[in-house]
Amino acid sequence: MKYFILFGPPGAGKGTQAAAMVEKYNLRHISTGELLRKEIAAGSELGLKAKSLIDAGALVPDEIVEGMIESEFKTVKGVEGFLLDGFPRTTEQAAALDRMLAKTSEEVTAVVSIMIPDGMIRERIKHRASIEGRADDASDETISNRIATYHEKTEPLTGYYRNTGKYNEIDGTGTIEEVRSKIFGLMDRF
Ligand code: AP5
Ligand code: MG
Repeated sequence: MKYFILFGPPGAGKGTQAAAMVEKYNLRHISTGELLRKEIAAGSELGLKAKSLIDAGALVPDEIVEGMIESEFKTVKGVEGFLLDGFPRTTEQAAALDRMLAKTSEEVTAVVSIMIPDGMIRERIKHRASIEGRADDASDETISNRIATYHEKTEPLTGYYRNTGKYNEIDGTGTIEEVRSKIFGLMDRF
């Protein structure tokens, strides 16, 4: 199995690009954000626990998302690999992923990192708020907290993956089509 990590700040275009990537490369898209939003919509205990953290722009505890990822790995068959969107998001989660894959002598194939500046994050999330109505897109404060959480907890992972030689950065500031063609150019190598 191949294990791709789709990395980047909030609003960088991970979900947008994932849709085309999974189709072209026969991958299973796993977005921890989407899985958590499904739990919230279902009113599960896990969803209730996650909701206040997500609405505040904070991360949910590592164990929760690690458990979600591991159960997806075990149940999904018939694909070339997985496209992880929004996971890992802390160095602890990255280490947990390495341990999970090591159990079957596997490893992360590559990291595809979509980068945009903070100002563009705000523009894109505001635009999406008017279309999708995601609760965590609704307030400026939550968006600011998500950006701060990204810089503090998630951005350091770029160093973690650079050290493994698996880190690949894509300029995410172009049009959706421009970014997609850069990503495909990179993915074709794996
Ligand atoms: P998550 O759902 O992962 O949200 P996020 O990281 O904030 O990322 P987004 O989904 O906001 O952005 P995206 O990169 O997918 O952008 P999109 O393609 O939609 O996580 C939500 C929350 O869940 C977290 O805050 C946290 O609380 C929790 N969580 C999730 N995973 C966790 C984990 N591992 N550990 C702990 N907690 C976790 O694009 C955005 C908009 O821009 C769209 O409208 C799109 O149409 C537009 N757009 C995209 N590309 C372009 C382009 N090139 N040009 C113009 N517009 C574009
Ligand atoms: Mg997304």
